[in-house]
Formats: sequence, C-alpha cells, structure tokens
Amino acid sequence: MTTSDPAPAPARSAATSASPVASPVSAGDLRWLVVGAGGMLAHDLLDLLRARSADVVAAGRADLDVTDPDAVAAAVRDVDVVVNCAAWTAVDDAETHEAEAFTVNATGAGLLARAAAAAGARLVQVSTDYVFDGRATAPYPEDAALAPVSAYGRTKAAGEWAVRAEAADHLIVRTAWLYGEHGGCFPKTMARLAAERDELSVVDDQVGQPTWTRDLADLIVRLVEAQAPAGTYHGTSSGRTSWFGFTRAIVASAGTDVRLEPTTSAAFVRPAPRPAFSVLGHDALRAVGVAPIGEWDERWRVAAPTVLAGEVA
Ligand SMILES: NC(=O)c1ccc[n+]([C@@H]2O[C@H](COP(=O)([O-])OP(=O)(O)OC[C@H]3O[C@@H](n4cnc5c(N)ncnc54)[C@H](OP(=O)(O)O)[C@@H]3O)[C@@H](O)[C@H]2O)c1
Repeated sequence: MTTSDPAPAPARSAATSASPVASPVSAGDLRWLVVGAGGMLAHDLLDLLRARSADVVAAGRADLDVTDPDAVAAAVRDVDVVVNCAAWTAVDDAETHEAEAFTVNATGAGLLARAAAAAGARLVQVSTDYVFDGRATAPYPEDAALAPVSAYGRTKAAGEWAVRAEAADHLIVRTAWLYGEHGGCFPKTMARLAAERDELSVVDDQVGQPTWTRDLADLIVRLVEAQAPAGTYHGTSSGRTSWFGFTRAIVASAGTDVRLEPTTSAAFVRPAPRPAFSVLGHDALRAVGVAPIGEWDERWRVAAPTVLAGEVA
C-alpha cells in the first residue's frame, strides 16, 4: 500500500508495490459529477473539466443536497468519477452548529461514498488540514493521527472515515488555506483592507501553505487521470508561510502602500481555534508519480492577477 489508509480494502485501482499506478486515462474520456458546484473550488474544477471536453454534470446545492439520501443515490448514476466539493465551510459557525455541519461534512460525504460505490464510480473527497491538531513541527504525513481541535475539523475528519468505510475506491485529498477567483478568500479580503487602511495587524504565529483552487483542481484531475491508488493525498502548495508572510506577498501583488504589523493568535481570538502548524507533506503523491503543486510563493505570483481581479463573494 503506497498511501495511508489504515484499513485498506480492495479497490478498482488499488496499487501493489509491484505496480503502483494503473494505466493513465484521459479526463475527457470520463463522465464526471461535481457536487457542491457553486463553491470556489468546484468552479475552477468545472472550468478545467469543460476545457478538457469532459462529460461533466455540475450539481449545485439546489440540484443536489448531499444530506438527502434518495437524491444522492439518484444523482450518482452513470458516472465514472464523483468529486465532492460540497461542504459546510463556515469554520467559526460550526462551533455553535456542529450537528448541522456534521450532516453535510460527514453524513453527506458518507452518502455520496455509498452511492459512488454502488454505482462503481470513484469518489474524490476534499478534506482539510483542520483534521490535525497543528502541534507538529514537521510536515504532517498522510497517515498522521487525526486530532481535530475545532468542530469543523471534527466533522471533516468524520467525513474522511465515512468515505473510507463506504467506498473502497476513494481519493481523499486534503487541502488548506485555499484561495480562488470565484469566492471570498483571504487574499481578496487583505487586498481590500490594505486599500482602505494605513496599517494592518496580521497573525504571524500560524503557518501553512496557501493553495490556489485552480492548482488543486488540476491536481485532482491529474490524480484521477493517473488512476492513483485509493488512499489519502495532500493537495497543498509546498513550502510554508504565516498569514503575515502571505499578506506581505498579497500587498506586493496588489501594489498597495500599507504598514503591516505582525500579531499573535492570542491577540486575535476567533470562535474556532486554528491549527498553529498546517504544513502537509506530499510523499503519497510522489510515491504514485504525481507531481505536487509547487511552491506557494511562485504559485501566488502566477495566481495573483487572476484572483485579485476575481469576483468578491
Ligand atoms: N476554503 C478553504 O480554505 C479550505 C481549506 C481546506 C479545505 N477546504 C475544503 O475544500 C472543499 C471546497 O472548499 P471551498 O472553499 O470551495 O468551499 P465553498 O466555496 O464554501 O463551497 C462549498 C459549497 O458546498 C455547498 N453546500 C453546502 N451544503 C451543501 C449541501 N447540503 N448539499 C450540497 N451542497 C452544499 C455550498 O453551497 P451554499 O453556498 O449554497 O451553502 C457551496 O457551494 C471543502 O470540502 C472544504 O472543506 C477548504
């Protein structure tokens, strides 16, 4: 087993050490269902799949509520790949609405996984660095113990386990610090604040890997095309920075003249605790011959003109 699932079950394209990856397929030859199609990541994934002439069904929340078992079973038919981009992503609100967040992030993921398994489709489940406690000092490997410190993290961790239990043929792709053209995100917020204010205080004691949704979408497609073995992969940029460091890069790209002051998480308390160290390792990708995304600062320089010009949600 080249990836990290603790209880490997036979899967359509599961690897052995002698044969890590099955023959590649082309995205354009597959039938895709993208769930949560109104979201930031889904938008870029749909653009990419359509550009590849893939046969793709986009199911927004109004078309498919992932918490509705009958609707999920009906939607997941005659497709090869289901990508679950639907999620309760309001991290702070989840602290006071954990049951509702669980219904979407865990129950919904499990329903999709069960339906995908019944239909013989591969399920891609998007997960998060928040499944970890953030107390590590070296990049988290894919098989590190899950220890979420927030309600959102608990619901996403439960979603991972539901997917593992229901669908042997799954790809769990954990990402973090996402930004994109089509949605509200940290760079847009900071660019706006930098234009409005003379000085900004930004947290400097949380580190992570800013990741462009377009890069993550591309990675998901590459994993599927490579017929990567079922398991857990990390879909983040490489390198690391703090929110303060990321803001410096954002302000430089925006060309704004603002004074930046580092601050601490203790001085900027939010309802949900954030992991202090959200750096994920990419060994599982390398093991199956799929290239990781690349360094966060280089990718930001490529992304910045598109993202900062994007719609503000
Ligand atoms: N954003 C980040 O920094 C980040 C970091 C790590 C991991 N992730 C993960 O990455 C994935 C994509 O994130 P994102 O930022 O693209 O999220 P997003 O923009 O918030 O999109 C999530 C989508 O899910 C939909 N949704 C919510 N409940 C649903 C339901 N019951 N049935 C169907 N759809 C439902 C939402 O619809 P409504 O808008 O109508 O509610 C929204 O369109 C998620 O799994 C998230 O947990 C994100």
